[in-house]
Amino acid sequence: MELKELSRKLKEYGQNELAEIIDTAGTISGIDLELVSKLYCMASEGVPEETGGDIAPIPVTVAADLSAEERDKYFRKGEELIRNGEFAAVTMAGGQGTRLGHNGPKGTFDIGVREHSLFEIQANRLLRRLSISGGGRQIPWYIMTSEENDHATRAFFEANGYFGYLPENVRFFTQFMLPMVGFDGKIIRNTPVSVKMGADGHGGIFRAMKAKGIVSDMKARGIKYAFVGGIDNVLVKLCDPLFIGFAYVNGFKCAGKSLIKRDPYEKAGVFCLKDSRPYVVEYTEISDEMAKAVDENGEFIYGDAHILCNIFSIDAFEEAGDEGLPYHVAVKKTDFVDGSGAVVHPDKPNAYKFEAFIFDAFRRYEKMGILRVKREDEFAPVKNREGEDSPATAKALYEDAEARGMLD
Ligand code: UTP
Repeated sequence: MELKELSRKLKEYGQNELAEIIDTAGTISGIDLELVSKLYCMASEGVPEETGGDIAPIPVTVAADLSAEERDKYFRKGEELIRNGEFAAVTMAGGQGTRLGHNGPKGTFDIGVREHSLFEIQANRLLRRLSISGGGRQIPWYIMTSEENDHATRAFFEANGYFGYLPENVRFFTQFMLPMVGFDGKIIRNTPVSVKMGADGHGGIFRAMKAKGIVSDMKARGIKYAFVGGIDNVLVKLCDPLFIGFAYVNGFKCAGKSLIKRDPYEKAGVFCLKDSRPYVVEYTEISDEMAKAVDENGEFIYGDAHILCNIFSIDAFEEAGDEGLPYHVAVKKTDFVDGSGAVVHPDKPNAYKFEAFIFDAFRRYEKMGILRVKREDEFAPVKNREGEDSPATAKALYEDAEARGMLD
């Protein structure tokens, strides 16, 4: 009998505790032990995160400096792709949202504006574009979830009538999960009968899109380009004809939006070239010298922040999906079950978590288009419960953009 079937049957007969053991067996059977073992070796041997390389500034196109003809050319091409059904939007909503601490998928969070959730904000944004760009068809919308929040996400869409979207135009897919591993190499158990799994990072999107049939679904629909963004930026332009046309006309298989960082230490990765290839240096890895470097006009040399607003061609999804991206190691503190079955609450970090970052895909390309946009029009993240980048700041920025008519 299949594990799933056995679990279902056990539940039917009220044997929920045993069903839990079977469910865990199912989870364990899906773990790529060879990969986990390699990642553990990498983490425990302290293999340094890739450093060094020849770092140089990357060419950036400033949207505000485009000539009227260029804007028009890009915009018209973008609209054409949208109208022809050759463009799709992908929302990454598989993160855990630990900092926000919301009970449920982050996309279900209500920041207190007219739309009652982050998902509704994005749905409205896409539907609004449809009425502007015409074409009579909805932009296919793909949503990446994790095993942890997939069920709740789908249920939320159903309960809310898909926010006016036709269900056949919304497709959910789950990203892969990886177990957390203790410093001793043992996979962490968080209860005596379950293992601690975590989504494999936003860079897991390529493997997931390929393996879960999303790339083939896009191909079947004739999609040429797709935007990929996070769920937590309430000003994200999921469907920006200018950006789409910018990528298409210039033949970029991969393009990203940037904005000038607020100060040298803003918590955002910055675009640059590394060994002549597009690259993002994470804020955790940037040197003080690089963070503060300015040119003769006093402008940051490495000031273009990556805001998780990217476009990829269908070929790019295909290629990156075949190879996947490297995993980075984060050291975390997590409860675990010891040999005697007791739950231990450690007071210092005790485990490794492995995540891939979407921007590691950029260096696959010799050229990447970077379009610098205005922060107040396109960036209002919801990361923390309070203070900077919180629901309160995002709400204020959203309402300001709305009042200026910038939510097209
Ligand atoms: P963050 O890296 O800010 O993570 O994700 P998070 O899960 O939202 O929040 P914290 O760090 O736990 O507090 C940026 C975007 O990438 C998505 C998130 O859902 C968010 O839209 N993401 C992140 C995934 O889809 N999968 C992941 O494994 C990680």
